[in-house]
Amino acid sequence: MTTASLIQPYNTGPMKCKICGKEAIVKLRSYNLALCREHYIEFVKRRVEKGIKKFKMVRKDERILVAVSGGKDSIVLWHVLNELGYDTTGYFLNLGIEGFSDESQEVAQKFADMFGLTLKVEYLRDVLGVGIPELSKISRGKPCSLCGMIKRYLINRAGLEFDAVATGHNLDDESSVLFGNILHWQTEYLERQYPVLPRDRTLARKIKPLILLTNYEIKLYAEVLNLPHIVDKCPFSGGATTHFYKGILETIENEMPGTKVRFLLGFFENKAGFKVPQTRHLKPCKKCGYLTTAEVCSFCRLKEKVENQFNLR
Ligand code: FES
Ligand code: ZN
Ligand code: ZN
Repeated sequence: MTTASLIQPYNTGPMKCKICGKEAIVKLRSYNLALCREHYIEFVKRRVEKGIKKFKMVRKDERILVAVSGGKDSIVLWHVLNELGYDTTGYFLNLGIEGFSDESQEVAQKFADMFGLTLKVEYLRDVLGVGIPELSKISRGKPCSLCGMIKRYLINRAGLEFDAVATGHNLDDESSVLFGNILHWQTEYLERQYPVLPRDRTLARKIKPLILLTNYEIKLYAEVLNLPHIVDKCPFSGGATTHFYKGILETIENEMPGTKVRFLLGFFENKAGFKVPQTRHLKPCKKCGYLTTAEVCSFCRLKEKVENQFNLR
């Protein structure tokens, strides 16, 4: 699938890069900054570095497992971390969705090969005996929340051998989630919303290095560097509410550039009461040891349900 070019979206006529005076390819309204190709690439790297340092996510001598879906966010994340000199390994979970999963895996593998990086691949069918399409039959409605739980569990499990697990959540994702959590005062979620969650027993450290970059900025980076990535969405893709919140924030951003980043950073800065999310109340799952609030974690419960339902024992 091809998409229209993102270069010069504001159509304001020729612009000069604020740093070197060459022709600019973009004007970032939030920063009132026009940049040429070279300085735009530099800008993205510096934003990632700034996010990592500000929230003390990870050090250069630590090993990172990058959760790669093949989409632009995770590909850009992996590219930038590698460019910044971090020690990275990719992790791809094949969800068994016909066409989509294999195409995504091919793209992730192509990227890894281009940059001489290692991609670990895990197949949901090997772990559970079934893929997302079968699971969508046992979950009423869309399988997305089930899929989210499975991904969190398996990515975490793979990440335990590393110092940190990096995911491609960006400024738009995080600010829209924050918006929704505040609208409904989901205090438990608000407590856990932070760009770095420390390691605790069987929970790997989770980091979100793209936290200071928007969807648009990430797409543009992938475009100017011609990075392979999958554009198609998962055929089960839902998330209508998140899209709705993103749309609202975008409208505000257009009127008041820089609002999204101030909103999110303001929240992190004002979180004084619970800066480090508490996981002390969690106990190991009786079956697998994963930290959970129940006796047996949701993943183990799902596994049992699948074994019974599909006679896999
Ligand atoms: Fe999980 Fe689509 S990627 S349901
Ligand atoms: Zn320049
Ligand atoms: Zn378990």
